[in-house]
Amino acid sequence: MALKIIRSGTLIGAGGTVKADLLIDGEKIAATGHALDVPDVEIIDASGKLVMPGGVDPHTHFDLPMFDTVSSDDHYTGHKAAAFGGTTTVLDFVPLDYPSMREAIDAWHAKADLNAAIDFGFHMNITRLDDQVQSEIPRLVDEGITTLKVFMAYNNRLRLQDGEILKVMRIGAEHGMLTMLHAENGDVIEVLTAETLAAGYTEPIWHAYSRQAWGAVESVLRGIALAEQATSSLYIVHVNTAGGLDQIDYGRARGLPVMGETCPQYLFFTEEHLRRPDGAKWVCSPPLRTADDNDALWLGLENGGLQALGTDHCAFFFDGTRAIEYEGEWIAIPGKELGVDDFSKIPNGLPGVGDRLPILWSYGVGEGRITPNQFVALTSTNPAKIFGLYPRKGALLPGSDADIVIWDPDRPLKYGVAHAHHRTDYNLYEGWELVGFPEKVFLRGHLIVDGEEWLGQRGMGRFLKRKPGAEAI
Ligand code: URP
Ligand code: ZN
Ligand code: ZN
Repeated sequence: MALKIIRSGTLIGAGGTVKADLLIDGEKIAATGHALDVPDVEIIDASGKLVMPGGVDPHTHFDLPMFDTVSSDDHYTGHKAAAFGGTTTVLDFVPLDYPSMREAIDAWHAKADLNAAIDFGFHMNITRLDDQVQSEIPRLVDEGITTLKVFMAYNNRLRLQDGEILKVMRIGAEHGMLTMLHAENGDVIEVLTAETLAAGYTEPIWHAYSRQAWGAVESVLRGIALAEQATSSLYIVHVNTAGGLDQIDYGRARGLPVMGETCPQYLFFTEEHLRRPDGAKWVCSPPLRTADDNDALWLGLENGGLQALGTDHCAFFFDGTRAIEYEGEWIAIPGKELGVDDFSKIPNGLPGVGDRLPILWSYGVGEGRITPNQFVALTSTNPAKIFGLYPRKGALLPGSDADIVIWDPDRPLKYGVAHAHHRTDYNLYEGWELVGFPEKVFLRGHLIVDGEEWLGQRGMGRFLKRKPGAEAI
């Protein structure tokens, strides 16, 4: 049935809350209002429930080759996990591991298009800068790719020099594109990693010690200074330190179009987790820091200093020698055990795409740190605006895609790997008590998650061609 009414729910938007009905016509939201009366319509009762726009996760890495393996969620399994957690749009990074950008983009479409189960877009990693790449960047706009990620770390692999980053920012700004920055100091990391390993320190905690907090702090400021000189807007990805957030505050206080994203892992976990026998589960770059950093980042979400909560979902198995069952098949993918004798060989990255909304709801809204409207802003509306998808995504407005989550705010759940749907063998939030969880999830009007039931399909997700010129918020 093409017409559906979600009846008597409480609609939560970034800007306000209203008890109302919501009419879906095909793939779009047609209207919201009180006691909508439409003939031949399917009624979905949402009384006592919240109705929110589907989550927009601006930061994922599906099917990403790393070291001698690949991230364990692909563009189907990751999308499915996202959907169960209330996210209906993801933006994934295209690695420039190919002779041309054309080949890189084609390769990522070949991985994603037939597998996608929710809507998706691409960011382009700019990890080398010769004349060819400089000439290819403006053409990305025709591909619907309007965002560029540059790296100050991962020497000899992904990192650009500061002058090159300045050039990328300039070209991007000229064409209405947004530069995203991985802010850590690659040179210092290279020295500390070599020294640490030479001294025989191999455990996961040394991953964090070789990537110092001050390296991230000065890199954030350096990135902001470069963006100012390039007249570019800037989005700092995965902010992990209080000091990094201070630098964003500094830039924004001076009117610069600088924005920041943090991720759930930086709100809850610290270096102490890396000291555990299973510490490799928490190895990501930049690393987890201290409880003071957790607190400061929460404050950033609360007071608007940070504009978005992404996940940086880049899942690996903890023990990739042991198969898990996924959709009736047994699968094992080499993972964190690759670094059992050397922290620098642990594939870096964490699962999280399905956890983001439920965890932020219970520990953000549930604990009174943010309002339901801030929840929607941080996880959906703001990322949609920053990345040129609003109001098609991130809104419950007439004309928006009918990407909708009916949220049960009272559902208690002991969370963990059994609920998360990620294709990996662990979950960071194992055993955490949640209150509030998605009940039904719609992608462009199609019901894709109904409680525990998966109704979505491989290939139903659409590539989102984005337009340049999105305003910084
Ligand atoms: O450890 C992480 N974050 N892996 C993904 C790559 C990146 O730098 O975002
Ligand atoms: Zn990064
Ligand atoms: Zn990332």
